[in-house]
Amino acid sequence: MITVRGRLSDRRLGAASEGGESFVILSAVNDLFLRACRAEPIERRPVWMMRQAGRYLPEYREIRSRVDFLTLCKTPELAAEVTVQPVRRLGVDAAILFADILLPLEAMGAELVFTPGDGPSFPHPIRSREAIATLTVPDIEERLGYVLDTVRRVRRELAGSVPLIGFGGSPWTLAAYLVEGGPSRTYSQLLAWSYADPTGLALLLDRLAATSAAYLRAQVEAGAQAIQIFDTWGGLLSGERWRELALPAVRTVLAGLGRTVPVLYYIQDGAHLLPELAALEVDVLSVDWRLPLSAVRRVVGSRPLQGNLDPATLLAPIPDIVAHTHRLLAEGSGGPHLVNLGHGILPQTPVEHARAFVEAAQQAALPLSAGSPTCAPSSSALA
Ligand code: CP3
Repeated sequence: MITVRGRLSDRRLGAASEGGESFVILSAVNDLFLRACRAEPIERRPVWMMRQAGRYLPEYREIRSRVDFLTLCKTPELAAEVTVQPVRRLGVDAAILFADILLPLEAMGAELVFTPGDGPSFPHPIRSREAIATLTVPDIEERLGYVLDTVRRVRRELAGSVPLIGFGGSPWTLAAYLVEGGPSRTYSQLLAWSYADPTGLALLLDRLAATSAAYLRAQVEAGAQAIQIFDTWGGLLSGERWRELALPAVRTVLAGLGRTVPVLYYIQDGAHLLPELAALEVDVLSVDWRLPLSAVRRVVGSRPLQGNLDPATLLAPIPDIVAHTHRLLAEGSGGPHLVNLGHGILPQTPVEHARAFVEAAQQAALPLSAGSPTCAPSSSALA
């Protein structure tokens, strides 16, 4: 078991099964994250950071100096090591699987290249109905078994100390990269297709949804205790177009995934989508920093919220980081709140600054409003 700073509660974690045998885990565990997702009572709010396993950590850079990004993702021993690094270094209250939202696209048959400095690219973008036919819904164990091995390995290494979050991209966000061929400023290829042939694009989104549902379910079966869906580019769409174009495929993913673990839904630049998201059957809404959490709550009600410190805040002097974190805690105090950034931590963030954020969130003595357990859809099983 790894040692985690902060208060651990010695309580019954729940039932689990491995190799067909059921057993009860009784150990020192920190399950604040899972309880907060379910709007259950908590002693303090959990904190973790999107992209917490990454380039701001010297121990991550050391491993990356020896292997390229895709090799790191595909080597369970190394991927598990970098998953656990921020838990060890910063004492965050959850681990997030080290992988990438684009890996299932490669498993579907799309060539994926990560170029240092330039990020991901698809040399053969998918821009027509004919091109969709080149993509299959893969056998997950066969094509993405390395991710599942990483999940199993991380669970063993964490030994219940903190929960493990699995993740995937929303079909719309996956399509954004696949159609564009990589990150883009405008996503004009994707948007052009959405106007020219929305039914054709829906065929692509359906296939992405089928793969994502199977992939996320496999992560849960391997041991992921919550799932975060990243809809990084959903905000490109108006509310009406998001409902028509993006939502049906999200529903397919959620239905296929089932309700065995908490589901968190991240939206970037999506303040205008909050009325749509309020109706989405997920446990936690994770939002960027553009709106204060109190304003988000006014639209979405008492559902648990995750976020939403501007990642650039962590580049400020430490006293400012602490002050901004306290302000965030006050903003989030109107209901269940999981403390996080509003997007991924920036690679140039000093480790001590990340630590200051985590400690400020964990040390604050808080009047806690855990919220009513009836306000959010609850999930009963612990994986
Ligand atoms: O620590 C964690 O959060 C877990 C690992 C994780 C990565 N990517 C590792 C990664 C997670 C959850 C992701 C999600 C992801 N990947 C998203 C959704 C969240 C978001 O950022 O909006 C997206 C859009 C991607 C696709 C992606 N991967 C891009 C656009 C890039 C290039 C930009 C960048 O940050 O370099 C990546 C690369 C990537 N994914 C890195 C890491 C640690 C950097 C690669 C490196 O080490 O060189």
